[in-house]
Amino acid sequence: MAIRTIVKFGEDILDKQCRPVEKFDEKLFELLEDMKETLTDANGAGLAAPQVGILRQICIVDVGEGPIELINPEIIHTQGEQNGAEGCLSNPGQYGLVKRPMQVTVKAQDRNGNWFEKTGEGLCARAFCHEIDHLHGILFTSKMSRLLTQEELETGEYTDD
Ligand code: NI
Repeated sequence: MAIRTIVKFGEDILDKQCRPVEKFDEKLFELLEDMKETLTDANGAGLAAPQVGILRQICIVDVGEGPIELINPEIIHTQGEQNGAEGCLSNPGQYGLVKRPMQVTVKAQDRNGNWFEKTGEGLCARAFCHEIDHLHGILFTSKMSRLLTQEELETGEYTDD
């Protein structure tokens, strides 16, 4: 296993559409293990393959309940709405106010190619949306209403306008 370098905002690879995974092999397992190690090391809630330079539809979400591996994921159902702070490991220190659904159901393949569905709420729903956006070259900065100030981040108090 190895910690991989996280690509930063401004690099072209983050704007690109990722291709579906077709081979569920050792190379994929190695990438997944490296991504999990990289995510843990960076203390983030999610990481997408293009953030480590790989243009494939692979992401990991971990909101404190253990890592969820999502391969070729798509959102099949959403419910409700939340408006809150969102950041990205590719854009350290900056957080924006982003509207997302409160509940999100994804359909994805596991590392062996088996399809499954998973429903997340709150932070998990937000992370599903954020990471799946990455696989289509979409960054949170294109969806935020505004950046949060340092003071708003420190106090946790902000109006959701
Ligand atoms: Ni991100």
